[in-house]
Amino acid sequence: MAGNSFGTVFKLTTFGESHGEAIGGVIDGCPAGLAIDIEAIRRDMQRRKPGQSEIVTQRKEEDEVEFLSGIFEGITTGTPIGFVIRNTNQKSRDYSHIKDTYRPSHADFTYDKKYGLRDYRGGGRSSARETACRVVAGAIAKQLLKDIKINAYVSAVGEIQLSKHYSELDFSQIEKNPVRTADPEIAKEMEAYIKEVRKSGDTVGGVISCVLQNVPIGLGEPVFDKLHAELGKAMLSINAVKGFEYGSGFGGSRMKGSEHNDPFEKDGSTKTNFSGGIQGGISNGEDIYFNVAFKPVATIMQKQQTIDSDGNTVEMQGKGRHDPCVVPRAIPIVEAMAALVLADFFLLNRLTKL
Ligand SMILES: Cc1cc2nc3c(=O)[nH]c(=O)nc-3n(C[C@H](O)[C@H](O)[C@H](O)COP(=O)(O)O)c2cc1C
Repeated sequence: MAGNSFGTVFKLTTFGESHGEAIGGVIDGCPAGLAIDIEAIRRDMQRRKPGQSEIVTQRKEEDEVEFLSGIFEGITTGTPIGFVIRNTNQKSRDYSHIKDTYRPSHADFTYDKKYGLRDYRGGGRSSARETACRVVAGAIAKQLLKDIKINAYVSAVGEIQLSKHYSELDFSQIEKNPVRTADPEIAKEMEAYIKEVRKSGDTVGGVISCVLQNVPIGLGEPVFDKLHAELGKAMLSINAVKGFEYGSGFGGSRMKGSEHNDPFEKDGSTKTNFSGGIQGGISNGEDIYFNVAFKPVATIMQKQQTIDSDGNTVEMQGKGRHDPCVVPRAIPIVEAMAALVLADFFLLNRLTKL
């Protein structure tokens, strides 16, 4: 199975299934001499982990990361950084009902048809448990990027949306509510809605907005590896993601050039930033901002009609402990993937000119 590595210089490879021995990863290309703040890695892991509040899955996974190589006395050695996260709270019996039955809109059908067999326990490799490895690598990438600020927040849950521009929001509010939105009032509304949806055995989607600030000019490698193209790939590789837009996004298509162009100031900054901090696939020093749309996850606790592996029509109902809405837990994943993209381009940019 190809497709388990991400990045060119700062490269992450992940392995493992949800209910196997462990998941883990190898980060190759992290320069030597970077002092690693293990607590900062743990903090990001805590933000992703299940069971952290009433509005996420009640699975209890400790998500303790063990580093096996590449860090000596707290400092990277320039060699591959290997790490594992052991799987300690698997309840595989919760998944026996999907052994031969396909959950509508999950990965059960496609994995079975592509590989001819699948580890169905907990969704196997298709489980979002894999994203814990991305959070570890992203937390290291953030440390390499030092001055770049990466802030993601929930900007919509179902139809409930934040209407404010990110510049009017106080990012310090994000970690103060379980939804991880930046407006405390709307947070309560979103939280109540997620609880209501969960009670009815259903799930709901949402949007995460992300802002990258203090990004140096020059990141991105045209023509195929443009900065926005890699950010798009990074975000669309996250489980349950259905859409990505940056800068003016789809809204920009309804504007005229005279409205949309970003006029320059003398110092090269721009008066407006419809470009979203990227022009020609290269960062221009302005804020980079983008939205990531997540679907309502597939495993619902209501009865649904589906098929089994022999093609018989059967009725199924979700079991086990699932997320009613994934956006609160997906915040550190979005930040991690953004950090991986920036770290890779930051290192690649050193090869650009003499
Ligand atoms: C943080 C996070 C948690 C998730 N939790 C669940 C879950 O509890 N149940 C579920 O069915 N899907 C969950 N998903 C989504 C599935 O992993 C995803 O829908 C599945 O792999 C199929 O892939 P696709 O939706 O991208 O096509 C979660 C996704 C994320 C990002």
